[in-house]
Amino acid sequence: MEPLPRGPGRVAWSLTCLVLLFLRGWPGVGAQTTLGFELQQPQDKVSVKAGETLTLICTTSPLSPPGPVKWLKGWGSENQTIYEQTGSFPRVTRAVDGSDTVHTIHIRDVQPEDAGTYYCVKFRKSVSAAEEVLQRGNGTEVSVLAKPTHPLVSGPGHRVGPGELVPFTCTAGGFFPENISVKWFKNRTSISAQPPQITSGRTKSSYNMSSTVMMTLWEEDVRSQLICEVQHRTLTASLRGTYQLSQALRVSPTVHVDADPPSPVGVNKTVKFTCHVKRFYPGNVVVTWLENGTEMNVENTSRLVEMPQGLFQLNSVVEVKAMEEKNGSTFTCRVVHDAQDPVDRMATLRITAPDRKGMDDESSAVNGSLLLICIVVGVVCTVLALLVAAILYLIRLKQSKGKSSPSARLHEPEKSSEATTQESDPNNLTYADLNFEKEKKSIRRMVEMSQQSEYACIQTSRAPNGDDNLTYADLDMVHLSKAPKRPAPQPEETGSEYASVQIPRK
Ligand SMILES: *[C@@H]1O[C@H](CO)[C@@H](O)[C@H](O)[C@H]1NC(C)=O
Ligand SMILES: *[C@@H]1O[C@H](CO)[C@@H](O)[C@H](O)[C@H]1NC(C)=O
Ligand SMILES: *[C@@H]1O[C@H](CO)[C@@H](O)[C@H](O)[C@H]1NC(C)=O
Ligand SMILES: *[C@@H]1O[C@H](CO)[C@@H](O)[C@H](O)[C@H]1NC(C)=O
Ligand SMILES: *[C@@H]1O[C@H](CO)[C@@H](O)[C@H](O)[C@H]1NC(C)=O
Ligand SMILES: *[C@@H]1O[C@H](CO)[C@@H](O)[C@H](O)[C@H]1NC(C)=O
Repeated sequence: MEPLPRGPGRVAWSLTCLVLLFLRGWPGVGAQTTLGFELQQPQDKVSVKAGETLTLICTTSPLSPPGPVKWLKGWGSENQTIYEQTGSFPRVTRAVDGSDTVHTIHIRDVQPEDAGTYYCVKFRKSVSAAEEVLQRGNGTEVSVLAKPTHPLVSGPGHRVGPGELVPFTCTAGGFFPENISVKWFKNRTSISAQPPQITSGRTKSSYNMSSTVMMTLWEEDVRSQLICEVQHRTLTASLRGTYQLSQALRVSPTVHVDADPPSPVGVNKTVKFTCHVKRFYPGNVVVTWLENGTEMNVENTSRLVEMPQGLFQLNSVVEVKAMEEKNGSTFTCRVVHDAQDPVDRMATLRITAPDRKGMDDESSAVNGSLLLICIVVGVVCTVLALLVAAILYLIRLKQSKGKSSPSARLHEPEKSSEATTQESDPNNLTYADLNFEKEKKSIRRMVEMSQQSEYACIQTSRAPNGDDNLTYADLDMVHLSKAPKRPAPQPEETGSEYASVQIPRK
């Protein structure tokens, strides 16, 4: 039973020896174990989404010489200590706290800047107590997949009018990897654009992009939307940046002024001048009224109205009493739209004095009617004069012809002669021989004779039956030639004479 009493003593001794061996012999043993030391950094490449936690794996063999194991990012002068046992590394935690073999770390909330190559490094304390690299892992290349930021669309720095071509830019940044697609839409219509410009910082851990389109704006674009759509492998759904084109658009108003009632107006009438400000955008407009160039104190009666297309319109009304002294006054509507140059539209108030107007009207009416009467009278007079002249002329004509062809002759009964041409002359009748060219045949003549006066009686053949239809020739019209000098139109006997007829008028 010897080994029993010695047993505990030997065990204790050997344990002590081991410990002593370990403690004393470490440097010597370290040199030996360096050869057997192993460090494993199995991850070649790791990609992690930004914001997530990165795990970097590193294991070593259990027996290792004194000296720390650290995580370095980069190598050479660029290196950066990510983790070591001492010190504060807020984002980094060890997977197994205090382990000699497991040196895996977690880095939470990874950022694009965290991209790079990470090395797990075993240092050993040299004789000079300085640390030197014992072994390093092959390195793990970490890429941080980063989503692009929400795309931002910016327009021109100032508003532009319809028809102008202006650039719009879409930017998104901080994404990794660099491949990204950008599409543009106006409402739902696709717009072609150049490929986006990609820029990156020195570390190439993330990229920024910028895409530009040129667009012409129109009035209708007040309600239009510009969309920049970005697609990236880190995104489950594309990101859309929007821009209301109304932000870039200025539609200047059309302005005109009208008056109700329109000029000229009667004295003391109320005239409403309305300034129509139409089709403008944006809605900030200031309307002022000037009377003869001086600003008027006008109640703000205008109300901004938004039309369906998104443009605005506004009417501003000013009421003016048309006092006589305001005759010829100008009323100017001054519109300042969106801090642009003012637009002036003017109307002039013209006043008619009602009494003067009436008088004028009356006198002119009178003048008119007088003139009319004069004209009518003149025309009538002229017509009458012409008529009289014509009649006189006709009479003259007849008279002058009567001397030749239409003649009236009175045949007195021959007192002395025995043979007469007039057989039907028993009652001492004198016949007027009236020769009318037109109705020679139809006219029969009978001249009745009294003692002192003679009547020329003409009986026409048209009314032969009625004795009452006997007509008396107006002998005024029958020129009875008394002139004896005239040669007889018909050769008569020398004894025949021309009667001188005296006709009493009724
Ligand atoms: C490290 O790289 C060497 C060659 O460069 C290779 O032989 C070895 O297998 C690599 N180790 C690991 C863990 O990848
Ligand atoms: C890390 O950088 C420092 C100086 O910045 C340098 O002295 C050191 O040797 C570097 N270490 C490694 C492992 O590259
Ligand atoms: C990307 O954009 C951000 C913000 O716009 C800026 O701070 C950063 O410097 C840009 N990076 C590059 C590489 O252009
Ligand atoms: C117009 O009104 C003024 C007072 O407002 C008055 O003196 C003037 O007689 C009026 N004129 C007419 C034509 O009514
Ligand atoms: C004056 O009119 C404008 C519309 O042009 C309106 O926005 C504003 O509220 C009005 N101001 C007053 C004091 O009525
Ligand atoms: C107003 O002026 C016009 C000419 O400008 C003139 O014809 C008219 O008679 C004037 N009215 C009054 C009421 O003075």
